Amino acid sequence: MPSLEGKVALITGAGGRKGIGRATALKLAALGADIALTDVTRPQSDLPPQERGDKWQGIESVAEEVRAHGRKCQTVACDLSVNAEVRDLIDTVIGEFGKIDIMINNARAIIGKDRVPVWELDEAEWQHFLDINLTAVYLTIKYTVPHMMERGQGGRIINTASDASKRGKATSSAYSATKFGLLGLTQCAALDLAPHQITVNSVCPGSVNTDRMSYQEQIAADRQGVPLETYRAQLVEQLGQVNPLGRIVESEDVANLIAFLSSDEAEMITGQAYNVNGGTLFH
Ligand SMILES: NC(=O)c1ccc[n+]([C@@H]2O[C@H](COP(=O)([O-])OP(=O)(O)OC[C@H]3O[C@@H](n4cnc5c(N)ncnc54)[C@H](O)[C@@H]3O)[C@@H](O)[C@H]2O)c1
Repeated sequence: MPSLEGKVALITGAGGRKGIGRATALKLAALGADIALTDVTRPQSDLPPQERGDKWQGIESVAEEVRAHGRKCQTVACDLSVNAEVRDLIDTVIGEFGKIDIMINNARAIIGKDRVPVWELDEAEWQHFLDINLTAVYLTIKYTVPHMMERGQGGRIINTASDASKRGKATSSAYSATKFGLLGLTQCAALDLAPHQITVNSVCPGSVNTDRMSYQEQIAADRQGVPLETYRAQLVEQLGQVNPLGRIVESEDVANLIAFLSSDEAEMITGQAYNVNGGTLFH
């Protein structure tokens, strides 16, 4: 793996205990990058069971792990659906580190309430998905890029998209529409920023073993009369069995690709959308 020594990376949605954001933070730190982590403060009821209670402190816990790698780590609370908070986030990180080399847009709206047929989808929920999954990415790019351009050292922007960016499915209109949109944003921003040697790429994971919070899975678990953890474990097992490579994708699999796209070795790659799915989708 290439070195990221001397680089600074900002990662959104980074507080999940098994999330892609945490795995990415640890991978990049292991490769030598200093890290800024951000997340929104969520009520206990909106956390996956493994993160409830006081043992897991979201981005503060991830920051401790990053520092254990000997890297600097800053945490910033930010609601990405609020324009002024996104602007302040970027200013705060620039204030601390003097630069952002790698911007990783990983946060997403919590899934579940959106999982209804399109005609039943609440407009506020639709808007919530647009705000966090798409507008927030546009905003982080808008506020980060002037700093990257001013330094004249290029940069890396990596957006966590999904297989839902490439294939629609029933009851996923809001999620899929925003994730398809993210690929459009990635391509256009890549061309806008190419003259500045700032690359913009997406990674497209299949189902990942992240313990993400899903209201829909909570309801399904309640119906079966089992804890959410048990329901989720069954799902992970089933998804592994139908995956051509025989297991579900882990957050670290996605982090490995993000790490490469973050590096100098990826300087000729831009506007792309790479799958990490074990062979469940090819385009
Ligand atoms: N888990 C999967 O199976 C899977 C599959 C494909 C793509 N992805 C994508 O990977 C990325 C990470 O997924 P995950 O499962 O690791 O994470 P996750 O769903 O557990 O967490 C997303 C993070 O976004 C944060 N967030 C939510 N609302 C926010 C707001 N208003 N402001 C700031 N942050 C907010 C949450 O607090 C959380 O930390 C997401 O973009 C997701 O769409 C995940």
